Amino acid sequence: MPEINLLRSYPKARRNVAARAATKDSNRAIALKFGMEYYDGTREQGYGGYRYDGRWKPIARDMIDHWGLKPGMRVVDIGCAKGFLIKDMMDACPGLEVWGLDISEYGLKNAMPECAGRLVRGNVRELPFPDKFFDAAICINAVHNLPRADALTAIREIERVAPGKGYIQIDAYRSELEREHFVNWMLTCLCFDTLEGWRDMFRWAGYTGDYYWTIIELDVRPLAEARCSVPGIDGLARA
Ligand SMILES: C[S@@+](CC[C@H](N)C(=O)[O-])C[C@H]1O[C@@H](n2cnc3c(N)ncnc32)[C@H](O)[C@@H]1O
Repeated sequence: MPEINLLRSYPKARRNVAARAATKDSNRAIALKFGMEYYDGTREQGYGGYRYDGRWKPIARDMIDHWGLKPGMRVVDIGCAKGFLIKDMMDACPGLEVWGLDISEYGLKNAMPECAGRLVRGNVRELPFPDKFFDAAICINAVHNLPRADALTAIREIERVAPGKGYIQIDAYRSELEREHFVNWMLTCLCFDTLEGWRDMFRWAGYTGDYYWTIIELDVRPLAEARCSVPGIDGLARA
């Protein structure tokens, strides 16, 4: 169960945490619908425009090398949104069978045309695939959108469909300051934890695949500017 950052080529985002914190409570309710506003609304509501720009290409290459994926092998991107990674994996390895699953009707309806026929609407909590079906199962920043008990089930599901061949990237924090910063930024997270907390969760789930963290690193703005309280999240204040 190695900790490995398969998203090391992903560009670092610039985040105005204070601007988002100011309108967060109303925007959180909107973002949690995973509709148009989340992907293509304002930056305060979500991505602020989720468009294909090729940034997943080096990540697709790294993933193919990591698992030694070859034409005819099967991969699923769980929480695939508009299918950018799916397209780039298929381009990088023609003949690789890549599918995607997402809960968002908007995301799937606005997915890359290359993904047609490869996308399923569903919930990571209950994957509609047989045991051991995939040679790799990728799940980037989706598991933490479920309440904690469902997140545990979701991690088990990823292990079930691709035993030892998962990659889960998940929201985490390493200190109390990072936790506070993260709470001010995030919109859709329903459970989050320290690295050790997540490692425990992986152990409880019997997860044997790979994983890494999404950490909202501190910037230079004073945290006091960005402070707000967010009801309804299941985050533990242990640093
Ligand atoms: C932060 S986005 C990540 C999208 C993509 N993986 C990426 O890294 O750019 C989270 C995605 O997970 C999807 N999602 C949220 N809850 C989900 C669930 N319970 N089951 C499946 N997908 C879910 C959302 O619709 C959204 O597309």
